[in-house]
Amino acid sequence: NKNVGILAMEIYFPPTCIQQEILEAHDGASKGKYTIGLGQDCMGFCTEVEDVISMSLTAVTSLLEKYNVDPKQIGRLEVGSETVLDKSKSIKTFLMQIFEGCGNTDIEGVDSSNACYGGTAALFNCVNWVESSSWDGRYGLVVCTDSAVYAAGPARPTGGAAAIAMLIGPDAPIAFESKLRGSHMAHAYDFYKPNLASEYPVVDGKLSQTCYLMALDSCYKTFCHKYEKLEGKKFSILDAEYFVFHSPYNKLVQKSFARLLFNDSLRNASSIDEAAKEKLAPFSSLTGDESYQSRDLEKASQQVAKPFYDAKVQPTTLIPKQVGNMYTASLYAAFASLIHNKHKTLDGQRVILFSYGSGLTSTMFSLRLREGQHPFSLSNIASVMNVADKLKSRHEFSPEKFVETMHLMEHRYGAKDIVTSKDCSLLAPGTYYLLEVDSMYRRSYAKK
Ligand code: ACO
Repeated sequence: NKNVGILAMEIYFPPTCIQQEILEAHDGASKGKYTIGLGQDCMGFCTEVEDVISMSLTAVTSLLEKYNVDPKQIGRLEVGSETVLDKSKSIKTFLMQIFEGCGNTDIEGVDSSNACYGGTAALFNCVNWVESSSWDGRYGLVVCTDSAVYAAGPARPTGGAAAIAMLIGPDAPIAFESKLRGSHMAHAYDFYKPNLASEYPVVDGKLSQTCYLMALDSCYKTFCHKYEKLEGKKFSILDAEYFVFHSPYNKLVQKSFARLLFNDSLRNASSIDEAAKEKLAPFSSLTGDESYQSRDLEKASQQVAKPFYDAKVQPTTLIPKQVGNMYTASLYAAFASLIHNKHKTLDGQRVILFSYGSGLTSTMFSLRLREGQHPFSLSNIASVMNVADKLKSRHEFSPEKFVETMHLMEHRYGAKDIVTSKDCSLLAPGTYYLLEVDSMYRRSYAKK
């Protein structure tokens, strides 16, 4: 099979959001902390009528409809999520409601989970299936769905929520360069969810930032090494048109990209001119640990990276800045932003993605883009996702109403005998929503 990859995409995020500038003032944070310090504009969240299951039902049905894909044509369905609503029953099985109705129960795959990485694991599983001898000629379908909520405190503004569905098959406009891949996996307690009674993670913020950057360095080293063995020349950031990062918040993405340039400078790669060499040379003797703590290095490398960042990263940041960290969907929402902004000029371009999930698991991998044939073309993917209209038609909550929603959701998490308000007036037509959780914890949904 040639050019196996992503044929089609759909994104769904809740229509309810809060402006970071307003949340910042309400939380008593210093002015600019969330907007400039974290680099975030707005944050989406689920109200009591939405959850990771309803969002994924919405994304999958919308994808099948808009690309005119017969549900019988799906042979594998994989879900990535770190939002636990049931410790045994997978989110995938809820999505089977869509396929059972059409008589298709012959669908492999279950859920994958490790923090924000589960979606990437699901994606690799589907791509590998299509490339394998057990492939039966049908499509794979990957769903990343999460609701990222944090306890009140410094991490709360880094929440978000979304579901993304991706159709996988051969001859894709978004094809994997499967040989170009570097992973880094290790044991860390940077962000985890040991309290099964709460939706909130336990998070060591500073450690999670360092773990993220260490994983990035390690993946980039492996990636560059593999590239050099294959292509017979050094990789530098000039060898890809765009870089897409898992985006807990935008400031970390800025730091990450600068870190790649620092790596290029240590390897004396072609992206580093004389001026850059001079600026970064003083840091070449730092130990790894020292380099993660050095504010001067951070400043110097971000300065060198700035023009490259504007060209190679900025077009990928729209949805993560507007919706927040969507955990497993975060990286793919950043990639969706790139398609939204640049679909007219992506033909032939290489795009590098970096996926990170705390705990920790991470991979850097490469995609090669082509315009493709309708309906599986970059321009059609951009028009189906309709990102601009979805962002524009959201409803802004006041901080008081946001906090009240978080309180209600805390009580609802893991509870039974719940009947929701069924108020779906803010939801767009076609959106699934939660009706009730009965005395046996069984969840039921309806479509608006
Ligand atoms: N104006 C401009 N910038 C400001 C202001 C201000 N008024 N106030 C603070 N800042 C800057 C800080 O200098 C800092 O930037 P820097 O990192 O470049 O120095 C930034 O804003 C954040 O301020 P901190 O004091 O570092 O923030 P705090 O420690 O309170 O919280 C954190 C930030 C740790 C990211 C927290 O939100 C968190 O724990 N989030 C969840 C964990 C997370 O997302 N980790 C990332 C990888 S793991 C994952 O994906 C879940």
